Amino acid sequence: QAREKLRNIAIIAHVDHGKTTLVDKLLQQSGTFREHEAVQERAMDSNDLERERGITILAKNTAINYKDYLINIVDTPGHADFGGEVERIMKMVDGVLLVVDAFEGCMPQTKFVLRKALESNQTPIVVVNKIDRPNARPQEVVDEVLDLFIELGANDDQLEFPVVYASALMGTSSLDPEKQDENMEALYETIVSNIPSPTEDVEQPLQFLVTLLDYNEYLGRIAVGRVNRGIIKQGQTVAVMTREGGTKQARIEKLFGFVGLKRVEIEEAGAGDIIAIAGIREINIGETIADPQKPEALPVLKIDEPTLQMTFLVNNSPFAGREGKWVTSRKLRERLYKELETDVALRVDETDSPDAFIVSGRGELHLGILIENMRREGFELQVSKPEVIIKEIDGSKKEPYERLLIDTPEESMGAVMESLGTRKAEMLNMINHGNGQVRLEFRIPARGLIGYRTQFLTLTRGYGIMNNAFDSYGPLAGTGVGGRHQGVLVASENGTSTFYGMMGVEDRGIQFLEPGTEIYEGMIVGEHTRENDIIVNICKVKQLNNIRSAGKDDTVTLKSPRLFSLEQALEYLNDDEYCEITPKSIRLRKKIL
Ligand code: GTP
Repeated sequence: QAREKLRNIAIIAHVDHGKTTLVDKLLQQSGTFREHEAVQERAMDSNDLERERGITILAKNTAINYKDYLINIVDTPGHADFGGEVERIMKMVDGVLLVVDAFEGCMPQTKFVLRKALESNQTPIVVVNKIDRPNARPQEVVDEVLDLFIELGANDDQLEFPVVYASALMGTSSLDPEKQDENMEALYETIVSNIPSPTEDVEQPLQFLVTLLDYNEYLGRIAVGRVNRGIIKQGQTVAVMTREGGTKQARIEKLFGFVGLKRVEIEEAGAGDIIAIAGIREINIGETIADPQKPEALPVLKIDEPTLQMTFLVNNSPFAGREGKWVTSRKLRERLYKELETDVALRVDETDSPDAFIVSGRGELHLGILIENMRREGFELQVSKPEVIIKEIDGSKKEPYERLLIDTPEESMGAVMESLGTRKAEMLNMINHGNGQVRLEFRIPARGLIGYRTQFLTLTRGYGIMNNAFDSYGPLAGTGVGGRHQGVLVASENGTSTFYGMMGVEDRGIQFLEPGTEIYEGMIVGEHTRENDIIVNICKVKQLNNIRSAGKDDTVTLKSPRLFSLEQALEYLNDDEYCEITPKSIRLRKKIL
């Protein structure tokens, strides 16, 4: 590929603003696929869990042929737990697409990812997506984006960002907010004309920065990144410059480029190419692969520090082994260490007990995904209540704080503010939209958010939206923050369920629902497995067939009461309990001492 016809871009957005749909459509319309190769739906969300939850967890590469251009698109994780990865990807590309929902506008993760793009000196192309939505307000959203650029200290060049209006769903785009063209042409053209081609020199000694890791049983660790200088060839000997400053020699076993969604073997690659390299054992993020004759390291990439930790244990409950394969401490250890092969933000520490490991990560979602994956692989295990990691900075202890953005109906505002007050949140901003909706912004100790989502949904009767992202380390908030729950609705059987009542999590007694107690979509219900027992399978009310209230012994139909996310289950954990995870259920158990 001629360098001037190469474009390397990243795509960033708040969760659900439509990145994946957009890339799917760009692929479909580009003709990158031959006719018999149908594009499967949701091309980029390749892993099961991602498809189910509809969120991007892993960064992925897609290569699109448009006219005689090759456009490499690196997808970025849409959740703040994976911010470090977004930051690294910014250094690998020459341009960025910032996707913003034409109705929702700027959300916390929009700000979070945009900050990272601006800090890396990128001038994002703003894609106002979902323009087909009936309540789309594209002009206002562009103004909001501009305000956000200014707030984040964008320079004059960055403030000149191009805007494309699009509907990823319909596969249309345009430079005009009033009128959509029939295809994505406007977006492709904006990409090729605004984003520069790589300028690095193929004549210089080789430099390649390992930016992402992948793992494959046959190939072992796979390093993904960009060739910064020179040429790299299959079979060649290279110098690997480690994070610690050492240099070792290695051989390039296999080299891959990207075509569509596939990785294909190539003989060589040159400066500016985004490629994958297999065969270098123990290669790590941030290391430089260089010319052995003239090894020069690139600046080491920063890796996010974990802010949350929990204990993973061998399942020692009396029911262990009934629903999945019982796992020995050796197996558990092996599995956790395998995860470290690709996930640099994860840390695993041994404890005094061979059966217990302390696993640290970026947040509840980060750790929740690991646990959920293990569960699906057939593992049984127990995990403890998550705790924030305290850090020592300049001689004093600090703990992580988050930015929290809340949209709530006006009538719930008082209750929300009060509940956050007890969790030591500090209000930074409040906007009353004048339509009965209020937007509130807080800074809150991360520990105060553990267990908050369910209480929030109850307080706002299911109408509230909350979003958070890491802010900074701050003074110790102390104990006594968080941990107040509203309760769990306990129901029985799948499908048709009887509401036994509300379970007060704090006192652990079963309280029956008062007749007329309202229930909401998004509330957590437990499947009652034994009378007056705290063992519940936790799932989330998805659809209530218009029933808004129920009393003791009322029967309601819970459509598809699917096992809900583990993060939600973790909210209910007390200090003296474990969450028992098996392939079939998630249960709360008293610790067996
Ligand atoms: P993450 O991977 O979690 O970051 O999400 P994403 O940004 O990849 O969002 P995704 O493409 O999964 O889209 C989220 C939802 O928005 C899906 O239900 C899409 O069908 C919908 N959606 C995406 N683009 C459009 C659009 O242009 N118009 C409308 N109406 N809906 C859209």
